[in-house]
Amino acid sequence: QRPVRIGVCGLGTVGSGTINVLARNGNEVAARCGRSVVIEQVGARRDNPDCDTSELDVTRDIFDVANNPNVDILVELIGGTTVARELVLVAIENGKHVVTANKALIAEHGNELFELAAQKGVTIAYEAAVAGGIPIIKSLREGLVGNRIEWLAGIINGTGNYILTEMREKGRSFDEALVQAQALGYAEADPTFDVEGIDAAHKLVIMASLAFTIPLAFDKVYTEGISRICPEDIRYADELGYRIKHLGIARRTEQGVELRVHPTLIPQRRLIANVNGVMNAVLVNGDAVGPTLYYGAGAGAEATASAVIADIVDVARTLDAKPDQRVPAAGVALAEQGDTLV
Ligand code: HSE
Repeated sequence: QRPVRIGVCGLGTVGSGTINVLARNGNEVAARCGRSVVIEQVGARRDNPDCDTSELDVTRDIFDVANNPNVDILVELIGGTTVARELVLVAIENGKHVVTANKALIAEHGNELFELAAQKGVTIAYEAAVAGGIPIIKSLREGLVGNRIEWLAGIINGTGNYILTEMREKGRSFDEALVQAQALGYAEADPTFDVEGIDAAHKLVIMASLAFTIPLAFDKVYTEGISRICPEDIRYADELGYRIKHLGIARRTEQGVELRVHPTLIPQRRLIANVNGVMNAVLVNGDAVGPTLYYGAGAGAEATASAVIADIVDVARTLDAKPDQRVPAAGVALAEQGDTLV
């Protein structure tokens, strides 16, 4: 089969990680996918010393990539919701599939983007938008599809969990731990998103849309971050046998689906209480399967690249299929049949 040609927009942490992992594992990926993945073009305002693009076609105007007729899949890794939204709209209008790691874009504009993608017969894939390298989107969309999901709950912000862990285990200050999380490439461009729970809220609504077949409803999430947690809180929690963990929770109630993000006290013996550092974990409770737990690195260059490449392969596998035989975009078409929101 002919190669699938991708255009990578953005050379930040995830963009450079994706190029590096593809360079390293490209042959294995091609063998599994049935076609090779070729980087047709890279769009980035500046180079990144963490990845070598000397052999690639690099443009400073990301819209060149969206308008490049040789690109099958636009891989949006620039972040933000303004230019990224424009870029993705142009790509879809041009009949390109989109792979994105952008949770803010999907959570806040996904309903609009999925509708346009459905009209144009293209796919938007967004595994990397939630919980870094954990294949939680695939699990919710495919692995658990036979279940009625009762609730899900997870540690879904790596930066926040890293900060809480460093404060507890190493006695670091909040600010010191945040600076370190930024240096490690975990934090968002605006780290307020991490520490005020906005990033977790974005991820929660994306998971909830699949778990409960509801539209993306970012404005319905109760959101509270970790910025007011002090060392004394962590010490008292320890003394009482608890850990403070920042959770995103979505559950059915009699009134509809409830969505909330806030710090919680979890008994120390629970598995999720022992998820530390940048690791994320998501618990999903289905009526047939019971409780299931997904664990792995929630942020970082290569962990997130792992999910980006999984999406590229998913789209590539069905590249020549009819639109209705491709990987489903999202639950939008089913939204009216799903649950209501509280
Ligand atoms: N800033 C995010 C986090 C990156 O720390 O989890 C991964 O989505």
